[in-house]
Amino acid sequence: SLYNEKNRPQFHFTSRRGWINDPNGMIFYEGEYHLFYQHNPYEREWENMSWGHAVSTDMNHWKELPVALSPDKLGTMFSGSTVIDYNNTAGFNKGNIPAMVALYTADNPDREIQCVAYSLDKGRTWTKYDKNPVIDSKDKWKSKDTRDPRVFWYKPGNHWVMVLNERDGHSIYNSKNLKDWTYESHVTGFWECPDLFELPVDGDKNKTKWVMYGASNTYMIGSFDGKTFTPESGKHYNVTGTIYAAQTFTNMPESDPRRIQIGWGKVQQPGMPFNNMMLMPTELTLHTTKNGIRMFSMPVKETTQLFERVHQWPSLTPAEANQKLKEFYNSDRFRVKATIKLSYATSAGFNLFGQRVVDYDMNFNLINGVFYSPDAITSMELDVDIYVDRTSIEVFVDNGAYSYSMERRPRSDNKEGLHFWGNEVEVKNLGIYSVKSIWK
Ligand code: FRU
Repeated sequence: SLYNEKNRPQFHFTSRRGWINDPNGMIFYEGEYHLFYQHNPYEREWENMSWGHAVSTDMNHWKELPVALSPDKLGTMFSGSTVIDYNNTAGFNKGNIPAMVALYTADNPDREIQCVAYSLDKGRTWTKYDKNPVIDSKDKWKSKDTRDPRVFWYKPGNHWVMVLNERDGHSIYNSKNLKDWTYESHVTGFWECPDLFELPVDGDKNKTKWVMYGASNTYMIGSFDGKTFTPESGKHYNVTGTIYAAQTFTNMPESDPRRIQIGWGKVQQPGMPFNNMMLMPTELTLHTTKNGIRMFSMPVKETTQLFERVHQWPSLTPAEANQKLKEFYNSDRFRVKATIKLSYATSAGFNLFGQRVVDYDMNFNLINGVFYSPDAITSMELDVDIYVDRTSIEVFVDNGAYSYSMERRPRSDNKEGLHFWGNEVEVKNLGIYSVKSIWK
């Protein structure tokens, strides 16, 4: 029956069937988190792009609803975002029901145009605006790559802001009514699925920065006046691996202003009626580090209810740790958390049946081949929090200073099993967690 397939991820969102890619229209409204997503409801391959739809009250357990937006004569339904039009700026509201308004791209062989649709029943059914498109900028940019509108309300200026991928970067548009848009500015060096949001630095609400984000998880820190994003940093990344085209929830309540992100996990699901997955929801925060202000991401606190700690040891040798981990050799899912302390070695890590889950090179500052310079380099300690599901692995390093994901390879006959390695490293605070399934 549903969600019982052998390779069905057990604590990640997947669609019942068909292909998924980018999260779209992520919004919190009336107690529900809405996750729309690029979806082919009919096949495991990218085709026939529609907006799939799922809702959740805790970001762990998702209920898949009927497809929200289907292809029409303007094109297939590419990525975009949603807002709640509390002030009825677009005129779609009905009585005291504010419209949920989606801005999305219609893709056709000739061009990619920005369109509007609205829902008066919490995203269940949608009406497309009869004067679509609202932006058609191919001729101006001499490029078909004009897509993925990301819209939000800019309170200080009392207007809507759209960030749009246009050719070689992200453009900013303004609007009073979600229909008429004015081009304002452009930042080069980004590609697809823009996001732009304000975050406190070190938790201080009086000290904020804006983050411009692109589909490949690179970001710039800067300032924003409603019309122009001014970079104050180069490009950085907080997360790498199978993740792409992540988006964040808008319309979070004032009492819970977290910036929560979900990324598409480009993870093949062999032999399954569905393909790809969403990665864990993470909270994004800005921190002052020795390298400057950087964005961290950590699984949202709601996810902790899925994991139950079954053991914890303060200090072990790798051989002792590996002995303890034998209990989990046959588990399809688990979480392992530890601090790896190097002192005689310049590299150390953690393998899962030969697959290099953590491969830290202290000398070249690389984790699994990607540059990472820990803030606490002097202590020679690396914190790793490793989430293993049936087909994916996510690793959060040093409380989210850096994180990455990978496909979980099918189990090999490698005898080492779950295996910490490194010359005389100390495995500190090793915690092992069991995982509840979100589908049961
Ligand atoms: C990113 C992307 C978007 C586009 C969508 C189409 O993965 O290429 O730019 O809107 O996917 O499915």
